[in-house]
Amino acid sequence: MAARVLPLLLVVVVAAAMARAPTAHAWGKEGHYMVCKIAEGFLTKEAATAVKELLPGWAGGELAETCSWADTERFRYRWSSPLHFADTPGDCQFNYARDCHNTNGEKDMCVVGAINNYTNALEDSSSPYDPTESLMFLAHFVGDVHQPLHCGHVKDLGGNTIIVHWYTRKSNLHHVWDVNVIETALKEFYNEDVSTMIKAIKMNITDEWSTEEKQWETCRSRTKTCADKYAEESAKLACKAYEGVEQESTLEDDYFFAALPVVQKRIAQGGVRLAAILNRIFSGNKVQSS
Ligand SMILES: *[C@@H]1O[C@H](CO)[C@@H](O)[C@H](O)[C@H]1NC(C)=O
Ligand SMILES: *[C@@H]1O[C@H](CO)[C@@H](O)[C@H](O)[C@H]1NC(C)=O
Repeated sequence: MAARVLPLLLVVVVAAAMARAPTAHAWGKEGHYMVCKIAEGFLTKEAATAVKELLPGWAGGELAETCSWADTERFRYRWSSPLHFADTPGDCQFNYARDCHNTNGEKDMCVVGAINNYTNALEDSSSPYDPTESLMFLAHFVGDVHQPLHCGHVKDLGGNTIIVHWYTRKSNLHHVWDVNVIETALKEFYNEDVSTMIKAIKMNITDEWSTEEKQWETCRSRTKTCADKYAEESAKLACKAYEGVEQESTLEDDYFFAALPVVQKRIAQGGVRLAAILNRIFSGNKVQSS
């Protein structure tokens, strides 16, 4: 496999060095775009209309265009920075009471708390929060909670301090999961075309994963969202993602081919669940629980 993948990657590395890839802080732009694009396809008519009305003008009527907004606001809204993730001590579990806080110990300041926060804000017409911002935050954070390394380990900042080589390029474990796996997949399998990758994932949702898909949407929790469950899944997947990875590890085909199916499924789940949350919020049937 390496022989097939490597020459292409060399071209990619040179191109990337010339283009200087932008730094990303969450699923890269592509990951968030795909989650939201998939969600758009699962919205009820009612929810799609409500979402359109809330979108800012610059979105051109497309939720997916706004799904990286929260990353660009991270420095202006410094308080929002811890809302992108929920790291754990490394026991492969997410425990809200233990793990959902910022570095000052402020409760609820993590990605799960944020999903609950913005879901509540959108459901409550008397909420003082800007509903357009609430929608854009919610769409972003539902994506983030599905990225395994956003529920990574506290001690290495969700893999950010684990420096690795992605094939021949310097990266870190967090960035591998945010960006590199998707980038490599786009180059190797999807002709650099995000819409082709989205199509392939959607095909799996209606075919390969059609029976599981209903369960992804199901939310029997008494809390408003099932974000706890999504974080729990990510914390488990994160433990696998760390396996065999050390400082300066070189990650290539073996790692890529193990990670890609996980990444594609998490994007699918993120999209389906974002739609389910928005459908619940805007369907006028807010207590609906499955
Ligand atoms: C809830 O949303 C408001 C408005 O954006 C923000 O100030 C607050 O920090 C958020 N809290 C959580 C836990 O997300
Ligand atoms: C489709 O599903 C199969 C089986 O789960 C998986 O290996 C593959 O990566 C998936 N492809 C996409 C594009 O999601």
